Amino acid sequence: MIQKLYDWIDERIDVAPIWRDIADHEVPEHVNPAYHFSAFVYCFGGLTFFVVVIQVLSGMFLTMYYVPDIENAWKSVYYLQSQVAHGQIVRGMHHWGASVVIVMLLLHTMRVFFQGAYKKPRELNWMVGVLIFFVMLGLGFTGYLLPWDNKAYFATQVGLDIANQVPFIGPELKTLLAGDPKIVGAQTLTRFFAIHVFFLPGALFALLAVHFILIRRQGIAGPL
Ligand code: HEM
Repeated sequence: MIQKLYDWIDERIDVAPIWRDIADHEVPEHVNPAYHFSAFVYCFGGLTFFVVVIQVLSGMFLTMYYVPDIENAWKSVYYLQSQVAHGQIVRGMHHWGASVVIVMLLLHTMRVFFQGAYKKPRELNWMVGVLIFFVMLGLGFTGYLLPWDNKAYFATQVGLDIANQVPFIGPELKTLLAGDPKIVGAQTLTRFFAIHVFFLPGALFALLAVHFILIRRQGIAGPL
């Protein structure tokens, strides 16, 4: 059945070369933990990606219930937690995943740094990584406000005050993020929601595509 489906598709769009490119790509011995146990450090990038996928999937389900306005945001999260089947699990995955992904990201970045894998010819991919890092921090910052509880509200106020201190463009940056120069309010929540679910995920996918294309073109660094 599966073979038939594969043949049907292959006859029309010639998938064999694409599949061969993925399946026949050899994993170098020095990154394979079956040969050297310490090679498990090379898994951190893939594990980071795994958590990113969990964040995207759980986030998609959260947006089916979340209401991005100041009257209903907290209520919608409470409803999801207390009434919706498996809502607590999905929210829990997204909540804890947001921290786990940063830990994985740090481990991955440390692996690349301490092995010197950022050196020529991989400087460009390191720079792409730095952009990814800021995007991930931005996702954490904007997502934190969305439940619209006290902790979220006041933490965001502190974050925006920090943005306000950026030399030269501080006040403009704060207004751009908050929507309102004076208070964290309705405009801020809508804006953070849009940044959290559209702008930053879009930027992340584009950057990750470049990251992975560069890894395929350059191969994995090492052995040491
Ligand atoms: C969501 C975030 C990220 C994901 C999913 C990701 C994924 C990956 C994967 C799967 C690899 C292949 C080797 C490995 O797994 O270690 C890799 C390599 C690499 N990553 Fe990332 N990465 C991310 C963020 C970053 C960051 C923040 C940096 C640096 C600031 C970075 C720099 C690099 C470099 C330079 C390589 C090539 C290393 C080599 O060839 O040994 N990455 N990344």
